[in-house]
Amino acid sequence: MKRMLLLLVPLCLCHSAFAADDLTSRANKLFKPIPTKAPPLKGNPATAAKLELGKKLFFDPRLSSSQLISCNTCHNVGLGGADLQETSTGHGWQKGPRNSPTVFNAVFDAAQFWDGRAKDLQTQAKGPVQAAVEMNSNPELVVKTLKSIPGYAPLFKAAFPRAADPIGFDNMAKAIEVFEATLLTPDSPFDRFLKGDAAALSAREKRGLRIFMDKGCAPCHAGTNVGGADYYPFGVREAPTTEIRPAGDTGRFMVTNTESDRYVFKAPSLRNVAVTQPYFHSGKVWKLRDAVTVMGSAQLGVKLKDGEVEDTVAFLKALTGKQPRLSYPLLPGSSDETPHPQLK
Ligand code: HEC
Ligand code: HEC
Repeated sequence: MKRMLLLLVPLCLCHSAFAADDLTSRANKLFKPIPTKAPPLKGNPATAAKLELGKKLFFDPRLSSSQLISCNTCHNVGLGGADLQETSTGHGWQKGPRNSPTVFNAVFDAAQFWDGRAKDLQTQAKGPVQAAVEMNSNPELVVKTLKSIPGYAPLFKAAFPRAADPIGFDNMAKAIEVFEATLLTPDSPFDRFLKGDAAALSAREKRGLRIFMDKGCAPCHAGTNVGGADYYPFGVREAPTTEIRPAGDTGRFMVTNTESDRYVFKAPSLRNVAVTQPYFHSGKVWKLRDAVTVMGSAQLGVKLKDGEVEDTVAFLKALTGKQPRLSYPLLPGSSDETPHPQLK
């Protein structure tokens, strides 16, 4: 009897170690940890000077015609890179049509915006500046404003030393891209688990991870960002209510004009999803557990049980990484030449 017990104990230990390894290796086939360093950017090598400039521009409300709204207004770096609004409020208190996605880790997404209409962060950054419901400015006004702020001249010169006329709209976007690419959230419990620390996830979070893989969430939400890689119809199996999926926003259809793209959206990254409520492009769902339930019925045609939903939510919470810690940048002062705010 004693001998048998002695034999059994190591066997049991082996078994649980094997089970953990199995989950780790399955997860490592689908997901990748968030790196701690910014990835290289195509055609836009990062330098310390570009980073410093890009950070200032991201926080500078003078990129908007009211001089009140900066990128950080809707992508608040202290609030998970988003704004906690259903849909964003921009120029003149106008409400835009879509929820503001986080800018954290966005550099790892295959394309930008809910409908992927910008191929990278650099192209993306020119959009909100000009959108009437966002910053309501235009390239001429932005360049005029930046040129009127004496402190920006040496910063642009240092960031773009070979340019004859460094202060320009494209260079603004390039600098912002370099800054955004540093807004990463590594070292979440899930990342530590992927790197081999089996104890980084609790039993409940591991159950959630299994559900996420076994029920079929992972095919659409995988890779480094646990999403952000491709587009899918919102409502593969069952159309969500028109409250959650408003009829007027047909997603990628508006970009490609292709019938099969009607109500197709980017499967968003689920990194830091627990701190970037509300959910979906409409921002109509506030509780993560409700978003998971909607995904079950809309994308998979299954009614997830309460316990399954809670376990999945626990796993999703383990995707919250170390948030970037930034010091608020000092912005160079305006001059007599600086255009005045236009509030209308
Ligand atoms: C008024 C609020 C508002 C302001 C200001 C704003 N954004 Fe956005 N941003 C949004 C919304 C809303 C979306 C989603 C729009 C869509 O998908 O059609 C978005 C999307 C993005 C995305 C895409 C993220 C993803 O996962 O697809 C990035 C990156 C981004 N904005 C960066 C910026 C930068 C840089 C600035 C400043 C130049 C800026 N934003 C200013 C509201 C705002
Ligand atoms: C067929 C692809 C697909 C499958 C399967 C899928 N999703 Fe999604 N997911 C999407 C798309 C597309 C969206 C964006 C919908 C929208 O807002 O238009 C989304 C959005 C979400 C959101 C909201 C994120 C945010 O920031 O607003 C969560 C949470 C989510 N999915 C979790 C899950 C879970 C959990 C499962 C499995 C039960 C799952 N998804 C299965 C494609 C999918």
